[in-house]
Amino acid sequence: MAILKIARMGHPVLLRRAEPVADPTAPELRRLVADMHETMADAPGIGLAAPQVHAPLRLFVFHVPGGEPGALINPVLSPLGEETEDGWEGCLSIPGLRGCVSRWKRLRYEGVDTEGRPVAGEAEGLLARMMQHETDHLDGILYPMRMEDFALFGFTEELARAAAATAAVPRPEPAA
Ligand code: NI
Repeated sequence: MAILKIARMGHPVLLRRAEPVADPTAPELRRLVADMHETMADAPGIGLAAPQVHAPLRLFVFHVPGGEPGALINPVLSPLGEETEDGWEGCLSIPGLRGCVSRWKRLRYEGVDTEGRPVAGEAEGLLARMMQHETDHLDGILYPMRMEDFALFGFTEELARAAAATAAVPRPEPAA
């Protein structure tokens, strides 16, 4: 296992559409997934998409607080209902910053795991937000490109200070 270098905003690999994974069970892919888990834990983050570690492939790993760690290969997301939710996001490719982004509240996800088995389920809350953030990475989209109000964008440290002072700003979520 190894800790991989994380691409930062401005690197072209983050703006490209990633390629589908042809063989989810290939040994080199398993190694990539294991390294991505280690890199995400080290960062630390709750999600990490392959393009963020310079691998332009459609997969991400995740570990949301209170849940199990996992990987989703060739993910497809579809909204459940029309409800959206505003929430704070961070990104390991945009260190030190947080922004407020509107996302689907509930969704259905499909994909395959590292054994090549189909995976499907429903997600909401932080899990659904993380999945949308990571799947955006696979399409070359970074969260600031989704933002509607740049007044709700700032340094994590300053936002946390403001939140502590006024309780008006929600606690920034972990980076993904
Ligand atoms: Ni990110």
